[in-house]
Amino acid sequence: ASDVDVAPTAKPTKHDLATGRDPNRVKIFDTTLRDGEQSPGATLTGEEKMIIARQLAKLGVDVIEAGFPIASVGDFRAVHAIAETVGNRPDPPIICGLARALTADIDRCWEAIKPAAFPRIHTFIATSDVHMEHKLKKSRAEVLAIAKAMVTHARSLCEDVEFSAEDAIRSDPEFLYEVFSVAVAAGATTLNVPDTVGYTTPFEFSKLIRGIRANVVGVENVTISVHGHDDLGMAVANFLSAVESGARQMECTINGIGERAGNAALEELVMALHVRRNYYNSRLGRVVGGPPLTNINHTEIYQTSRLVSSLTGMLVQPNKAIVGANAFSHESGIHQDGVLKNPETYEIMDAKSVGLKDNSMVLGKLSGRHAFRSRLTELGYELSDEEINRAFVRFKELADTKKTVSSWDIESIVNDEVRAVDA
Ligand code: KIV
Ligand code: ZN
Repeated sequence: ASDVDVAPTAKPTKHDLATGRDPNRVKIFDTTLRDGEQSPGATLTGEEKMIIARQLAKLGVDVIEAGFPIASVGDFRAVHAIAETVGNRPDPPIICGLARALTADIDRCWEAIKPAAFPRIHTFIATSDVHMEHKLKKSRAEVLAIAKAMVTHARSLCEDVEFSAEDAIRSDPEFLYEVFSVAVAAGATTLNVPDTVGYTTPFEFSKLIRGIRANVVGVENVTISVHGHDDLGMAVANFLSAVESGARQMECTINGIGERAGNAALEELVMALHVRRNYYNSRLGRVVGGPPLTNINHTEIYQTSRLVSSLTGMLVQPNKAIVGANAFSHESGIHQDGVLKNPETYEIMDAKSVGLKDNSMVLGKLSGRHAFRSRLTELGYELSDEEINRAFVRFKELADTKKTVSSWDIESIVNDEVRAVDA
């Protein structure tokens, strides 16, 4: 077998069958409303959570982790309201709530999510020595017993149970396999592998996923999920590497918001799988040119990003991949000239594919005559070559004095330098 011997033969879940989703897709589990809300200062009201949840459903995510119901009465109500409404819309996503591996957490979570057509309990306990010894103050045997009892309890309430081994990356792999085997035997349907502190590397993550596939008893009947933070800026690369080794659910947030340096960014993961679909289809043993790798409607990405940014108050950096203000802008003359001749020279995806109206040419001191002429045409000016030359000289002088030259500046150049002289 090759190192990517993951045959696309997943059994469809009830949710797949009801929504007609490809069982072999990479599932997108959005945790903007739970882990994303853990970004310092990003707290959302119940109403704001509802607005975002509706948009996430429109975006086509498979699972919405709507909150941590035991954390507060407000969060319980928000999760419950999302389960009742978004969880029952046509083509509904799974509505999930987080619960520590404690009976009270799990019961509260179940009360919040149960109105959804497809509810999921997500329960977790830490499995790394540092967490067990210093945070939980429990032995390995105790953690194993708790995992078994709490997954069994969650499964007695809900047929869709996700189990996470917090800090999986820094756990002893042999112990991790044991805990996961116990969780599967107790009824877990998804095993989540969190890189809680953003410590792993792409190669290491993929090796661990292969280890889980080889050593966890019953793993062939469950979905392997990845969750990770961006402390070293590698979360997205780590997930994509894990997917090549058999992970089929990615836990991510819009704009990559979340605890500390944030979570893996949904828009980057989804567009990587889309733009490089031939590569990933072949690496995942799927038909090249076959169905999309995820269920996401890409054209909703930009709108979702703006909404999350404005409701959380977390600004998106201008050079952020996919949704940053500069992601589809070209400033240098060489690039502008190339893109105007054929966008494929400097663009690997179309701005429209993520819901933007168009790419944009930023005019500045590096811009060339081709981009300048094209902006004049867009603004409705039909100038002779000689007039364009005169205006271009003036444009370059102005561009040396400011960062960007706006359409308004160009109109003034034409009016003052060309029209006035001609008159
Ligand atoms: O980062 C983490 O480990 C988590 C778990 C609760 C899944 O957010
Ligand atoms: Zn997390």
